[in-house]
Amino acid sequence: MRLIGTFCALAIFVQSVVAFPSFLHNRDIDLSHLSREIDSVLARVPAEDLAKLRRDASLQKRSTFSESQLIDVSGVHAYAPPTAGQTRGPCPGLNVLANHGYFDRSGVVTFTQSVSALTSVLNLGIDTAIALVTYSIAIIGDPIALTWSIGGSYPSSIPLILPRPGGIDASHNNYESDASVTRGDSYLHNGDVWSVQLATFKKLYALQDGPDADYTKDVLIQHRKNTFDYSVQNNPHFFFAPFSGLVVATAAHNFVAYFFANHSAEKPDGYLDQKNLKSFFGITGDTIDTLVYNYGTERIPDNWYKAPNPYSLVDVVTEILESIQANPEVGAIGGNTGTVNSFVGVNLGDLTGGVINSQNLLQGNNIFCFAWAAARAGLPTALSGVTSLLGNVLNLLDTKLAPYLPALACPAIDEFNLSLFNQFPGYTQH
Ligand code: HEM
Ligand SMILES: *[C@@H]1O[C@H](CO)[C@@H](O)[C@H](O)[C@H]1NC(C)=O
Ligand SMILES: *[C@@H]1O[C@H](CO)[C@@H](O)[C@H](O)[C@H]1NC(C)=O
Repeated sequence: MRLIGTFCALAIFVQSVVAFPSFLHNRDIDLSHLSREIDSVLARVPAEDLAKLRRDASLQKRSTFSESQLIDVSGVHAYAPPTAGQTRGPCPGLNVLANHGYFDRSGVVTFTQSVSALTSVLNLGIDTAIALVTYSIAIIGDPIALTWSIGGSYPSSIPLILPRPGGIDASHNNYESDASVTRGDSYLHNGDVWSVQLATFKKLYALQDGPDADYTKDVLIQHRKNTFDYSVQNNPHFFFAPFSGLVVATAAHNFVAYFFANHSAEKPDGYLDQKNLKSFFGITGDTIDTLVYNYGTERIPDNWYKAPNPYSLVDVVTEILESIQANPEVGAIGGNTGTVNSFVGVNLGDLTGGVINSQNLLQGNNIFCFAWAAARAGLPTALSGVTSLLGNVLNLLDTKLAPYLPALACPAIDEFNLSLFNQFPGYTQH
């Protein structure tokens, strides 16, 4: 059984109301353009590469080196920070692409341009890129113009039908999350979820020391535990949602070690030193006491070699599981109930009608199945079904990506009781 067909048949009970753009209720928007764009992007990927995505997770492959991993940061791809009117947001991977002109420097980008740059410059897998970009367009972008913003809002192509798309900045709890790598929790920073919090960056920085510092996957797994604990201990409104928290924010920690490392001939498995870590986060300064953050200045270092293997959705899941296995507490879903240190984890069995529970979450592909259902279910009922734009977009994504995903045999999660989240002020009020 394929993963995706299962989700199309979901009937989801959602009792909570989340602030969501009203245009998502509009099911009459024609998606044939999006459908053709996805087909044309996929048609340009060599069949052999697509077959590889199904076969093996790139992380299990041996790293090889080729000079073509060197990323051009000269000429039209020279670094330039955003000017007035150009936008950047909470994701340093997206910000560097815009600062080097691989994304439109405005920060508003098309479907095709964003998938192409993410795969060619950073080596995000085509499956991961299509899934993340399509979700962006569906929840915070313009599904007619097929554009989305990596930061703030921008004008709609059809203002009478679609209001201004909000951009990633406006996606708190749906894409953007508390307990991030360096960005602040929404409640603690008055909704500023896009700026690096220097104190948080310094905690990551301090996990390594000296000329041999190397921010490996294990270091980032430790940081993930620290960022989670910090939010529990300091944010009375901490909320850790199934998709934006457990999946996106945890994956983002793993992304630091995998994507930002320099994958050279000498170190084909990657090496992330302090200089390059600072560069990707827009930080300058030589010692920990003199570090400075400047908004929008994320930069690809000169002479930087990208990762050799595409990071597929299977890799996303594999690395999230490693993080949870190392620190089981970060596998919880839930939040604080209005005071610090009041974290309550929702019972996964209650949330999913018993289909997924804490015993089987880590088995097989359940976390992937759960995440996918959660991405859809984190929405009011009207939006998750086939009668809404988002429902239609997710169904389209299901159909397009299914052939490239491994057979996942997902259990049918036909109940997702989001009213269990009403006890968390960070869910209802942000
Ligand atoms: C379409 C592709 C992508 C989208 C839509 C996306 C979106 C996001 C979002 C919504 C966040 C906020 C998560 C949070 O609040 O904790 C985030 C954070 C992050 N992303 Fe991305 N991302 C994409 C690709 C990438 C890639 C390819 C990389 C690495 C090269 C990357 C690296 C990161 C990192 C390191 C963070 C943590 C930021 C921090 O807290 O300092 N992302 N991304
Ligand atoms: C990446 O590694 C190669 C080989 O050691 C080195 O020449 C290059 O300067 C490194 N790049 C960065 C950005 O550290
Ligand atoms: C959802 O959870 C709430 C709160 O625990 C409970 O009262 C309600 O009966 C549940 N709804 C379903 C459909 O299971």
